[in-house]
Amino acid sequence: MIEFRAHGKLFVAGEYAVVEPGQPSVLIALDRAITARVTEGHGAGSVHSQEYGNLPLTWTRAEDGLALDREHHPYDYVMATIDLVEKLRAELGIAPRFHDLRIESQLDDASGRKFGLGSSAAVTVATVGALDRFYGLGLSQRRRFMVALLATIRVAPRASGGDLAASTFGGWLRYSAPDREALAGLLDERSVSAILDDEQAWAGFDVEHLPAPADLRLLVGWTGSPASTTKLVGVVRRHRDGDYAAFLDASRACVDDLTTGLRTGDADRTLAALRRARGLLQGLGTSVGSQIETPRLATLCDVVEAAGGAAKPSGAGGGDCGIALVPTDGDDAEILRAWEAHDIRHLSVAVQPEEGTT
Ligand code: PMV
Repeated sequence: MIEFRAHGKLFVAGEYAVVEPGQPSVLIALDRAITARVTEGHGAGSVHSQEYGNLPLTWTRAEDGLALDREHHPYDYVMATIDLVEKLRAELGIAPRFHDLRIESQLDDASGRKFGLGSSAAVTVATVGALDRFYGLGLSQRRRFMVALLATIRVAPRASGGDLAASTFGGWLRYSAPDREALAGLLDERSVSAILDDEQAWAGFDVEHLPAPADLRLLVGWTGSPASTTKLVGVVRRHRDGDYAAFLDASRACVDDLTTGLRTGDADRTLAALRRARGLLQGLGTSVGSQIETPRLATLCDVVEAAGGAAKPSGAGGGDCGIALVPTDGDDAEILRAWEAHDIRHLSVAVQPEEGTT
């Protein structure tokens, strides 16, 4: 059986700005993952997951033999990924084979509630990885990321892909995105292989590992309320006025500072940059009239700051998780007690070690 694990993620800094090509962000990959397992298909093949139950696949005749029938499936991350990988497989002259794909997630709780740890990205990366092995496509890690981003664009055209990068490359990561609008245009015109080979089309995309922070421990709190990233990103997009350019500049400066703090092992600078990143999200929320830092996220962060650490909403905010860095010689118990008293659940996660960026 072929199996591929792809990790969850959290944004550390640079949210919202990172949707603009070339704008930097920092993320971490987590040691919780989504696993995709592929076996030779029975009948036309199927996808099996907690979300789908058991969903049989249907296919149409295409030039090379087979293509996924778009009309008969919810066209979501998994289907868009299967569709794109099949297209690439056909371009590479590899014969189609039916497959049964089973997806298992550690990124939701037992009842299927999402923690906001990047499950859409992880399922996309896991599906690309598993089908790459199943068909022997020989994709490099970098190309697996690129294929995952192209599939994602079909479902969420504005997504930065930072979550896909964390899921693919692991570790602490500085990431900036290519121009997805331009890539989406190319998807209608050219083969997948031609897009992967076109360096110009990927301008702005950059990924680099960073050292883990010295003398600081990571804590993650979950507010229990789901957030809608798409909705919040849409609100911010509608408010791209004069302040937006200043926000982008400030975000870049903050991410640069965080990067320096991490690279030089400077805990104070790292904490200061994280507090600054929180302030930027607060300011953005106020300027667009939307609650990025909800009252519970504010409590989550305030408790950490009072104990000498730094914390902020992770990702789009509006719920989901907050991320905190606390001095290793501090008392976490105090923070965890205060979180519990405010119904904030401590998620016990660690950073997944890096996996190269080739
Ligand atoms: O809410 P999350 O963890 O999916 O992160 C969203 C981060 C944004 O920068 C707001 C959007 C994006 O696509 O990067």
